[in-house]
Amino acid sequence: MWPRSIAGDIVVTTSAEGPGTGRPMLHPAAEHTRDRLGRPLRDLRISVMDRCNFRCPYCMPQETFHDRYRFLRTSERLGFNEIVRVARAAVALGVRKLRLTGGEPLLRPRLADLVGELSMIDGVEDLALTTNGVLLAQHASELKANGLNRVTVSLDSLDPEVFRRMSGGFGGHEHVLEGIKAAIEAGLGPVKVNAVVRRGDNDHVVLALLEHFRWTPVIVRLIEYMDVGNRNAWRREDVVPSAELLRQIAARWPVSPLPGSYHGEVAQRYRYEDGAGEIGFISSVTAPFCGDCTRARLSSEGVFYTCLFATTGTDLRGPLRAGAADEELAGRLRAAWASREDRYSEQREALRRREQPLHKIEMHYIGG
Ligand SMILES: C[S@@+](CC[C@H](N)C(=O)[O-])C[C@H]1O[C@@H](n2cnc3c(N)ncnc32)[C@H](O)[C@@H]1O
Ligand code: SF4
Repeated sequence: MWPRSIAGDIVVTTSAEGPGTGRPMLHPAAEHTRDRLGRPLRDLRISVMDRCNFRCPYCMPQETFHDRYRFLRTSERLGFNEIVRVARAAVALGVRKLRLTGGEPLLRPRLADLVGELSMIDGVEDLALTTNGVLLAQHASELKANGLNRVTVSLDSLDPEVFRRMSGGFGGHEHVLEGIKAAIEAGLGPVKVNAVVRRGDNDHVVLALLEHFRWTPVIVRLIEYMDVGNRNAWRREDVVPSAELLRQIAARWPVSPLPGSYHGEVAQRYRYEDGAGEIGFISSVTAPFCGDCTRARLSSEGVFYTCLFATTGTDLRGPLRAGAADEELAGRLRAAWASREDRYSEQREALRRREQPLHKIEMHYIGG
């Protein structure tokens, strides 16, 4: 299957692994770890914290996630040793990339210790973090020293008013910029900046955001606003299609498509023709990439999900706390992946027309 493209061009990807490729061979069991649509398991996103210090309206609207909202208790969250055990089982089945996320992962005390343990797992080729960046400046060098490879920082706008609105009333975009600078200095690059674009909220400031990061090593990625969870009152009209943004951007700075860097890459990459750097588009609404999706997710309380839009998952905390052996854990992961047929983004329109709406897991909880 050819990877999809927002501009109609064909993007070539590679997925070589094994002898002579510089990539380790997979565990023999990994060969069999394909889902019902033939997709292998390659990435695990781990939500280490369901809480957040922001209330972005498209993710954790304040009306729902208010002061009395019941987040998980510490004992309900997986401990570091439990997370490491699940990660190790997932790596044995073919996972090569781990990403720590949340909620806000930097709210998790001693996160750098977890990074240190995950980075020692044999077979992990890439260990990354997604953060809103507010606390990043304090942690960047320790995270790097403990083995983190890269960070992605969410930043929807540099306009203080727009930033405030899109973070749910919090200021602090200057702290996010300090975090990005600290991450670059610590060697956590290439730093990517994720911006969710919502019509009427920040589509008018996208070019200013891009301009700020032109001629820097930062790669800005524009994300189509998605109907994650059940509480962001998503409407199709609020999505700004990537093709529309691409036209606006190309009218200001000519850009050319870049080939995908690896199989299953979510962003479609473009470079500025004047050499000012690279940008990406994540177009899960207008150009779904379910066909190439190799990602699974582990929630803060230890449920394994096979799709960002999942309604149910596989509990691992129960078995972990009941003394399950590694083989049993791997068996549960393999069974969940083998029965996977999720392709929500490709079926979005039909699924949203159902009489009985799907009750999806919230994004702060499943891990973005
Ligand atoms: C859920 S957050 C968790 C990590 C961290 N708190 C952060 O904001 O980067 C992960 C990513 O999901 C994105 N996101 C959240 N809700 C979204 C939505 N409704 N549509 C598209 N992206 C969304 C955020 O912008 C962020 O880049
Ligand atoms: S997108 Fe990230 S920063 Fe914003 S509310 Fe969700 S978890 Fe928090």
